[in-house]
Amino acid sequence: MDKLLVEGGAPLGGEIRISGAKNCALPLMAATLIACGKHRLSNVPRLRDIMTMRSLLAHMGAVCEHATDLEIDTSDIHTLTAPYELVKTMRASVLVLGPMLARYRRARVSLPGGCAIGARPINLHLKALEQMGVEIALEHGYVVGEAKRLRGARIVFEQVTVTGTENIMMAACLADGVTVLENAAREPEVVALADYLRLMGAQIEGAGGDEITITGVAELHPACCEVIPDRIEAGTYLAAAAITGGSLRLKGLRPEHILSVSQKFVDAGISMEIGDDFIDVRGNGRICSVNVDTRPYPGFPTDMQAQFMALMTIGDGVSLIEERIFENRFMHVLEMERMGADIELDGRTAIVRGVKKLSGAPVMATDLRASASLVLAALAAEGTTEITRIYHLDRGYEAIEKKLSAVGARIERVSGKGE
Ligand code: EPU
Repeated sequence: MDKLLVEGGAPLGGEIRISGAKNCALPLMAATLIACGKHRLSNVPRLRDIMTMRSLLAHMGAVCEHATDLEIDTSDIHTLTAPYELVKTMRASVLVLGPMLARYRRARVSLPGGCAIGARPINLHLKALEQMGVEIALEHGYVVGEAKRLRGARIVFEQVTVTGTENIMMAACLADGVTVLENAAREPEVVALADYLRLMGAQIEGAGGDEITITGVAELHPACCEVIPDRIEAGTYLAAAAITGGSLRLKGLRPEHILSVSQKFVDAGISMEIGDDFIDVRGNGRICSVNVDTRPYPGFPTDMQAQFMALMTIGDGVSLIEERIFENRFMHVLEMERMGADIELDGRTAIVRGVKKLSGAPVMATDLRASASLVLAALAAEGTTEITRIYHLDRGYEAIEKKLSAVGARIERVSGKGE
């Protein structure tokens, strides 16, 4: 299994181009199932999760080619099953449920099962589908959905759910009548999906707000669309500049998508100049400890919690970090402690007392964002850190060690067998 060796202490300097967002590309890819024909997606990042979604679509009969753009031909879908082998490696596979039900009125999707960051059930997706007339059964670990017809409904999500909103928005596009989603997710990726569905002929209003109205149409047609820049990758590289006391220009991003994140960096004393599609970030060596709690967009994203915690480990005081989205997203804490961080957990809150220096140590990646936080901690630590299980990182960060070494990080991937 590959590992990363990181020698800390080098301030980063230079430019990093931000890739397309994984969490935008995945729903767009799933959405191609809703309209028969050839679709084209640009700015799709080359990541493991994208490969998994390609495998899933191919399993169902789609023909996928990823040259500069990703072309997906959904003319010949012959299998309406998302198998356990694929869903267990990537929970976002559940995003095919809505489009399959919309177009074929039938779908069989493996239940995702456990997850390192929390229980992550899909009960809210299923409840909303039932309200739209889908009969749901659980058979041999699979959710089987069937509907004679899908009908519009008023759906109030008890909790904000990103893929839940996306799934139901897709299902509603071809339903009879009007569907209203209340307490909908407002993430930029939801807006991007609504834009794409509209290009296919869907009637959607209100995406980006907490109430989305979808008026069902008879049919959609294929379309071309560009994946939005990855706001979490951008936030991670902001943290890389800040934690090393370096200066980076992050290019090709949408600064308006990371306002809650960039504001926290400013509060922590990091200088930032924000342009139309770039951010210049400069760490000055001193990091002020600030408090953070994670919330649905436009709040501070849970997907940046671990990376921000890495920064706070060398803050000048005490930082309280409350995780309000996932109940178990603190797996990085024990690993950071191995590097000398002083963190106490109290339920959903981490109390992070800044230390002068982290020290390099062997650590293990446990999920995607936890892995990124360990890379950040390693960049700031004295000595060498060896990070194992980095396959998590490859799921969601395009060419991370190449991007970082191009701006001066001493980071190397070592291929190896076993752990
Ligand atoms: N929830 C339920 N029932 C449901 C759905 C959600 O109880 O049916 C709960 C979850 O357990 C969680 C909360 O609601 O406590 C929010 O979960 P949400 O459904 O919004 O998460 P998701 O859609 O499964 C997406 C991202 C995650 C990101 C979360 C939160 C994609 C493909 N995944 O997951 O991204 O953390 O929203 O913003 O968009 C990542 O990229 O590392 C990642 C985990």
